[in-house]
Amino acid sequence: MEESKLRELLQTMSLNEKIGQLVQLASDFYSDTNGAITGPMAEMGVTDELVTNSGSVLGATGTRNVKKIIDSQLKNNRLHIPLLVMADVIHGYKTIFPIPLAIGCTWNPGLAEKTAEIAAHEAAVSGIHVVFAPMVDLVRDPRWGRVMESTGEDPYLNSVFAAAFVHGFQGDNLKDDLNRTAACVKHFAGYGAVEGGREYNTVDLSELRMRQEYLPAYQAAVDAGCKVVMTSFNTVDGIPSSANQWLLRKVLREEWNFDGTVISDWGAVRELIPHGVAENEKEAARKALIAGVDIEMMTLCYPNTLCQLIESGEIKESTLDQAVWNVLKLKNDLGLFENPYRGADEAQEQKFVYCHAHREWARRAAEESCVLLKNNGILPINSSKKLALIGPFADHGDLLGAWSWQGDPKRTETLTEVFSAEGINVLTAKGCEIAESKSKLLREAIQKAEESELILLALGESSEMSGEAASRTKITLPECQLELLRLLKPLNKPIVIILFNGRPLELSEVIDDADAVLEAWYPGSEGARAIVRLLTGKVNPSGKLTMSFPQSVGQIPVYYNANNTGRPESENKDEKKYVSKYIDCANDARFPFGFGLSYTSFEINNLRMSKKSITVNEEIRVSIDVKNTGDAAGAEVVQLYIRDIAGDVVRPLKELKSFRKIYLQPGEQQTVAFQITERMLRYWHPDLRFKSDTGTFNLMIGQDSAHTLNDSFYFRATGGMDA
Ligand code: IFM
Repeated sequence: MEESKLRELLQTMSLNEKIGQLVQLASDFYSDTNGAITGPMAEMGVTDELVTNSGSVLGATGTRNVKKIIDSQLKNNRLHIPLLVMADVIHGYKTIFPIPLAIGCTWNPGLAEKTAEIAAHEAAVSGIHVVFAPMVDLVRDPRWGRVMESTGEDPYLNSVFAAAFVHGFQGDNLKDDLNRTAACVKHFAGYGAVEGGREYNTVDLSELRMRQEYLPAYQAAVDAGCKVVMTSFNTVDGIPSSANQWLLRKVLREEWNFDGTVISDWGAVRELIPHGVAENEKEAARKALIAGVDIEMMTLCYPNTLCQLIESGEIKESTLDQAVWNVLKLKNDLGLFENPYRGADEAQEQKFVYCHAHREWARRAAEESCVLLKNNGILPINSSKKLALIGPFADHGDLLGAWSWQGDPKRTETLTEVFSAEGINVLTAKGCEIAESKSKLLREAIQKAEESELILLALGESSEMSGEAASRTKITLPECQLELLRLLKPLNKPIVIILFNGRPLELSEVIDDADAVLEAWYPGSEGARAIVRLLTGKVNPSGKLTMSFPQSVGQIPVYYNANNTGRPESENKDEKKYVSKYIDCANDARFPFGFGLSYTSFEINNLRMSKKSITVNEEIRVSIDVKNTGDAAGAEVVQLYIRDIAGDVVRPLKELKSFRKIYLQPGEQQTVAFQITERMLRYWHPDLRFKSDTGTFNLMIGQDSAHTLNDSFYFRATGGMDA
């Protein structure tokens, strides 16, 4: 529709019709009983009139179902304004990809983009217009269940993935490409920093930290053209995001020029009351709308009070109109006025959803996202050996993880099924339930293990143990699984552990007892197939962690890009007292950011720099030789880190600035090239300017954040900033 026509439409709307556009209800209210319920359901007092005026529905899907809802809305809505259909499609629709934390471990943004493209395709042909993804919260506390939805602890890497996901969902021509959906980046902002890792808890970050570390990934999504932004549940500098004018007006609209739609999270507008910044629904509505929340998800503060607020002059009608405009414009950008169903199409749904080609991509993504944490040479397995496959995940389809409401664990092949399909004999036994020990299961497992020459032990968390509302204080494997391991160990058979989980775990009781450990995360629809290919050496593991694994919960947060202190430990760590350390645990992560093993070995050396100083608009060209020194083909992620030796504020010990993932045949060598520019050195200063320092910088290149080339490489830079 032409913009002028859309403006005319806005002018013909009554106050109630305008407010209705700002209301988002779960699909249950549209007589759809198959929808997703992803938040608390209280008695809301939703009237038929409100449903008829509402602008968007959440959690509805399936072409036939969605068309029914849309048809009834078009019929009953006086102005026939099409309904927006939004849903959580986080790591796939029916074809489920590995969880985002695992996708991060691929260090392959092109692959991440492809997974989003496929997710959008399946969602779009099933009637969904907007997906509530990507989630780009920076995460450093594995107690928080939602770390599984993020790509990890690094601002730069998260930004790269944020842009890739947005592009994958939206494509280049959203209006006409009916196989794409609009993306909704979330949760704006800083939700990953909830205190103690406790869900929905307080966040308190300095503005410098917020800007430097937490905001970049959201901004990358906005810069990539993301159409919708979802507010977070937490406070930002004492004000919940959904009432935070600084965040939603100043940063998002003024600084980043965002001209899309802002939606609250489920119930977050009404939650301003228990947060203690609004006394009642009216105050909550006023604060949220003035702050810039266009759509209120699943509470009714707007419909219950905005009329009064406008009539009393407490809110200007122009403020309401702007919010309504943001919703109408999104509908128009999706072409819904011309085609309210958009991509919904039963034939396409039949053809593409969960199709073979999509599942092949899911397998590939799973293969690249598994991280080999330990291997004493037992992997890849020799499948002519007598194998026992033991553990609660040995024959279990719960490989999809949280946020996979359309995925079907019953249709997901298990490890046992794949081994059998590949003609590899395994003796399978459960050993215990995921969180409950059973002596009969234990006995059976020990017997099978005794008959075998090698034990494959499939352990982990159930999907409900991570994701939203699944914070944990103890992040070990469940006790019954540790007990199973303790009983198998004395059999003196090699043990390969395969882990299924949504967060970095505390693995102190696991690592030493295992000969090899493969971190499989929740690998998705084709996870079992990918894992068998990895275990048997058909595919060489190449995943690298994007979130550090702690040695102990007491160290949390432990992350690679921390600041130095005035009393750091020395390199040989020989101080007894008066340095920044624990007396009962090392400072280092058990497995650091960027870490992951391979069946081959790589050597990197011969770092060359084109010069040793730069100023604004100049670059240093850096090259380094990477050689596959083992006897298997494989991929290596070459990681470039920089440290600003002395800044205006304390700077991290190292920051990832660039990376390359390369594939090398045995014996093959490649030269990898990077550019260092002055822009890469910029950061937020105390005067809130984004600029770089004049001074010395340390360049580090390596295979993970803790192991970089030993020689010291320094360069000088003359600081700069935008005019
Ligand atoms: O998109 C989600 C969000 O991440 C958490 N609360 C519910 C929303 C809608 O389902």
